[in-house]
Amino acid sequence: MHATVYIATSLDGFIARKDGSIDWLTSIENPSNDDFGYQDFISGIDAIVIGRATFETVLAFPGWPYTKPVFVLSSTLRQVPEKLKGKVSLLNLEPAQALEHLTREGHTRVYIDGGKTVQGFLREGLIDRLIVTKIPVLLGEGIPLFGPLAQDQHWVHVKTDVYPNGLVKSEYRRGG
Ligand SMILES: NC(=O)c1ccc[n+]([C@@H]2O[C@H](COP(=O)([O-])OP(=O)(O)OC[C@H]3O[C@@H](n4cnc5c(N)ncnc54)[C@H](OP(=O)(O)O)[C@@H]3O)[C@@H](O)[C@H]2O)c1
Repeated sequence: MHATVYIATSLDGFIARKDGSIDWLTSIENPSNDDFGYQDFISGIDAIVIGRATFETVLAFPGWPYTKPVFVLSSTLRQVPEKLKGKVSLLNLEPAQALEHLTREGHTRVYIDGGKTVQGFLREGLIDRLIVTKIPVLLGEGIPLFGPLAQDQHWVHVKTDVYPNGLVKSEYRRGG
Protein backbone atom coordinates (compact mmCIF):
# COMPACT_ATOMS: atom_id res chain seq x y z
CA MET A 1 0.00 0.00 0.00
CA HIS A 2 1.28 3.46 -0.94
CA ALA A 3 -0.32 6.55 0.56
CA THR A 4 0.19 10.03 -0.85
CA VAL A 5 -0.81 13.46 0.34
CA TYR A 6 -1.44 15.89 -2.51
CA ILE A 7 -2.52 19.25 -1.15
CA ALA A 8 -2.25 23.01 -1.50
CA THR A 9 -1.31 25.35 1.33
CA SER A 10 -0.87 29.05 1.87
CA LEU A 11 2.72 30.24 2.37
CA ASP A 12 2.06 30.06 6.10
CA GLY A 13 0.93 26.46 5.91
CA PHE A 14 -2.88 26.65 6.01
CA ILE A 15 -5.19 24.53 3.85
CA ALA A 16 -8.32 26.61 4.50
CA ARG A 17 -9.44 29.66 6.43
CA LYS A 18 -10.73 29.09 9.94
CA ASP A 19 -14.29 28.87 8.58
CA GLY A 20 -13.16 26.26 6.05
CA SER A 21 -13.25 28.52 3.00
CA ILE A 22 -10.77 28.01 0.19
CA ASP A 23 -11.57 31.12 -1.89
CA TRP A 24 -7.84 32.07 -1.81
CA LEU A 25 -7.15 28.74 -3.54
CA THR A 26 -9.94 28.65 -6.10
CA SER A 27 -9.31 32.26 -7.16
CA ILE A 28 -5.63 31.90 -8.10
CA GLU A 29 -4.68 33.37 -11.47
CA ASN A 30 -4.50 30.62 -14.04
CA PRO A 31 -4.55 32.17 -17.51
CA SER A 32 -3.21 29.03 -19.22
CA ASN A 33 -5.82 26.82 -17.52
CA ASP A 34 -3.07 24.56 -16.13
CA ASP A 35 -4.13 21.76 -13.80
CA PHE A 36 -0.66 21.80 -12.20
CA GLY A 37 -0.27 18.06 -12.72
CA TYR A 38 -3.51 17.07 -10.94
CA GLN A 39 -4.85 14.71 -13.62
CA ASP A 40 -1.46 13.00 -13.94
CA PHE A 41 -1.43 12.48 -10.20
CA ILE A 42 -5.03 11.19 -10.09
CA SER A 43 -4.34 8.72 -12.89
CA GLY A 44 -1.69 7.15 -10.65
CA ILE A 45 -3.93 6.46 -7.65
CA ASP A 46 -6.86 4.10 -7.23
CA ALA A 47 -8.77 5.40 -4.20
CA ILE A 48 -9.19 8.60 -2.20
CA VAL A 49 -9.52 8.92 1.59
CA ILE A 50 -10.90 12.22 2.86
CA GLY A 51 -11.96 13.54 6.23
CA ARG A 52 -15.59 14.38 6.97
CA ALA A 53 -14.91 18.15 6.90
CA THR A 54 -13.32 17.94 3.44
CA PHE A 55 -16.26 15.80 2.29
CA GLU A 56 -18.64 18.54 3.44
CA THR A 57 -16.66 21.16 1.48
CA VAL A 58 -16.73 18.99 -1.64
CA LEU A 59 -20.48 18.37 -1.30
CA ALA A 60 -20.99 22.11 -1.82
CA PHE A 61 -19.14 22.02 -5.19
CA PRO A 62 -21.37 22.25 -8.24
CA GLY A 63 -20.58 18.65 -9.26
CA TRP A 64 -18.91 15.57 -7.78
CA PRO A 65 -15.24 16.12 -8.70
CA TYR A 66 -13.78 12.65 -8.10
CA THR A 67 -13.30 9.92 -10.67
CA LYS A 68 -12.01 7.31 -8.22
CA PRO A 69 -13.74 5.59 -5.26
CA VAL A 70 -13.88 7.87 -2.22
CA PHE A 71 -13.71 6.74 1.41
CA VAL A 72 -14.83 9.31 3.98
CA LEU A 73 -13.45 8.96 7.48
CA SER A 74 -16.00 9.93 10.11
CA SER A 75 -17.21 8.90 13.53
CA THR A 76 -20.40 10.95 13.16
CA LEU A 77 -21.76 10.49 9.62
CA ARG A 78 -24.23 7.64 9.28
CA GLN A 79 -25.04 7.76 5.58
CA VAL A 80 -24.01 9.35 2.32
CA PRO A 81 -26.38 11.26 0.03
CA GLU A 82 -28.38 8.92 -2.24
CA LYS A 83 -26.75 10.27 -5.42
CA LEU A 84 -23.28 9.31 -4.14
CA LYS A 85 -24.08 5.72 -3.20
CA GLY A 86 -21.63 3.48 -5.05
CA LYS A 87 -19.08 6.32 -5.26
CA VAL A 88 -18.55 7.09 -1.56
CA SER A 89 -18.12 4.77 1.45
CA LEU A 90 -18.00 5.79 5.08
CA LEU A 91 -15.25 4.44 7.32
CA ASN A 92 -14.94 4.88 11.08
CA LEU A 93 -11.48 3.38 11.45
CA GLU A 94 -8.05 4.36 12.71
CA PRO A 95 -5.61 5.23 9.88
CA ALA A 96 -3.83 1.85 9.85
CA GLN A 97 -7.13 -0.06 9.90
CA ALA A 98 -8.47 2.15 7.13
CA LEU A 99 -5.48 1.26 4.93
CA GLU A 100 -5.92 -2.43 5.75
CA HIS A 101 -9.57 -2.15 4.71
CA LEU A 102 -8.61 -0.52 1.41
CA THR A 103 -5.96 -3.17 0.80
CA ARG A 104 -8.58 -5.88 1.32
CA GLU A 105 -10.74 -4.12 -1.27
CA GLY A 106 -7.85 -4.37 -3.75
CA HIS A 107 -6.55 -0.79 -3.59
CA THR A 108 -2.81 -0.23 -3.60
CA ARG A 109 -2.21 3.49 -4.16
CA VAL A 110 -4.32 5.89 -2.14
CA TYR A 111 -4.61 9.65 -1.92
CA ILE A 112 -5.15 10.99 1.61
CA ASP A 113 -6.79 14.42 1.95
CA GLY A 114 -8.00 16.81 4.67
CA GLY A 115 -6.01 18.47 7.45
CA LYS A 116 -6.87 16.41 10.53
CA THR A 117 -6.98 13.31 8.38
CA VAL A 118 -3.51 13.89 6.93
CA GLN A 119 -2.17 14.62 10.42
CA GLY A 120 -3.58 11.33 11.71
CA PHE A 121 -1.90 9.32 8.96
CA LEU A 122 1.37 11.24 9.30
CA ARG A 123 1.48 10.67 13.07
CA GLU A 124 1.23 6.93 12.45
CA GLY A 125 4.01 7.06 9.82
CA LEU A 126 1.61 5.88 7.11
CA ILE A 127 2.31 8.48 4.41
CA ASP A 128 4.95 7.59 1.81
CA ARG A 129 4.78 10.65 -0.40
CA LEU A 130 3.98 14.29 0.22
CA ILE A 131 3.17 16.62 -2.68
CA VAL A 132 2.55 20.11 -1.36
CA THR A 133 1.75 23.09 -3.58
CA LYS A 134 2.49 26.46 -2.00
CA ILE A 135 0.16 29.30 -2.99
CA PRO A 136 1.87 32.69 -2.62
CA VAL A 137 -0.52 34.13 -0.03
CA LEU A 138 -0.27 34.60 3.73
CA LEU A 139 -3.56 33.98 5.52
CA GLY A 140 -2.36 34.65 9.06
CA GLU A 141 -4.63 31.99 10.52
CA GLY A 142 -6.62 29.03 9.34
CA ILE A 143 -6.78 25.24 9.35
CA PRO A 144 -3.20 23.92 9.38
CA LEU A 145 -1.88 21.13 7.21
CA PHE A 146 0.57 19.86 9.80
CA GLY A 147 0.24 19.24 13.53
CA PRO A 148 2.01 17.65 16.49
CA LEU A 149 4.20 14.58 15.96
CA ALA A 150 5.70 12.18 18.48
CA GLN A 151 9.12 12.70 16.91
CA ASP A 152 10.83 14.43 13.98
CA GLN A 153 10.20 12.92 10.57
CA HIS A 154 12.77 13.23 7.83
CA TRP A 155 11.67 13.51 4.21
CA VAL A 156 13.69 13.37 1.00
CA HIS A 157 13.09 16.05 -1.61
CA VAL A 158 12.23 14.46 -4.98
CA LYS A 159 11.46 17.49 -7.16
CA THR A 160 10.01 20.96 -7.24
CA ASP A 161 7.99 22.46 -10.07
CA VAL A 162 7.60 26.24 -10.26
CA TYR A 163 4.61 27.54 -12.24
CA PRO A 164 4.42 30.93 -13.99
CA ASN A 165 1.68 32.13 -11.62
CA GLY A 166 3.95 31.61 -8.61
CA LEU A 167 2.73 28.20 -7.45
CA VAL A 168 5.55 26.03 -6.14
CA LYS A 169 4.84 22.30 -6.03
CA SER A 170 7.30 20.17 -4.07
CA GLU A 171 7.33 16.40 -3.83
CA TYR A 172 8.96 14.50 -0.97
CA ARG A 173 9.26 10.84 -0.13
CA ARG A 174 9.53 9.47 3.36
CA GLY A 175 13.09 9.28 4.60
CA GLY A 176 14.60 6.01 5.81
N1 LIG B 1 -5.96 23.32 0.45
C1 LIG B 1 -6.31 22.11 0.05
O1 LIG B 1 -5.73 21.55 -0.92
C2 LIG B 1 -7.36 21.38 0.81
C3 LIG B 1 -7.47 19.98 0.65
C4 LIG B 1 -8.40 19.30 1.42
C5 LIG B 1 -9.22 20.00 2.30
N2 LIG B 1 -9.11 21.33 2.41
C6 LIG B 1 -9.94 22.07 3.36
O2 LIG B 1 -9.60 21.66 4.67
C7 LIG B 1 -10.75 21.73 5.51
C8 LIG B 1 -10.94 20.41 6.21
O3 LIG B 1 -9.80 20.05 6.95
P1 LIG B 1 -9.93 19.60 8.47
O4 LIG B 1 -8.56 19.49 9.05
O5 LIG B 1 -10.90 20.51 9.13
O6 LIG B 1 -10.65 18.20 8.41
P2 LIG B 1 -10.69 16.81 7.62
O7 LIG B 1 -9.44 16.06 7.83
O8 LIG B 1 -11.20 17.00 6.25
O9 LIG B 1 -11.89 16.14 8.46
C9 LIG B 1 -11.75 15.93 9.85
C10 LIG B 1 -12.78 14.92 10.27
O10 LIG B 1 -12.54 13.68 9.61
C11 LIG B 1 -12.93 12.63 10.45
N3 LIG B 1 -11.78 11.77 10.71
C12 LIG B 1 -10.46 11.98 10.45
N4 LIG B 1 -9.73 10.91 10.79
C13 LIG B 1 -10.62 9.99 11.28
C14 LIG B 1 -10.49 8.66 11.76
N5 LIG B 1 -9.31 8.02 11.82
N6 LIG B 1 -11.61 8.00 12.18
C15 LIG B 1 -12.84 8.61 12.12
N7 LIG B 1 -13.02 9.86 11.65
C16 LIG B 1 -11.92 10.53 11.24
C17 LIG B 1 -13.51 13.25 11.72
O11 LIG B 1 -14.89 13.41 11.42
P3 LIG B 1 -16.06 13.28 12.53
O12 LIG B 1 -15.98 14.57 13.29
O13 LIG B 1 -17.29 13.12 11.72
O14 LIG B 1 -15.71 12.09 13.38
C18 LIG B 1 -12.80 14.60 11.75
O15 LIG B 1 -13.50 15.58 12.48
C19 LIG B 1 -11.92 22.05 4.61
O16 LIG B 1 -12.20 23.43 4.72
C20 LIG B 1 -11.40 21.75 3.22
O17 LIG B 1 -11.98 22.56 2.25
C21 LIG B 1 -8.19 22.05 1.69
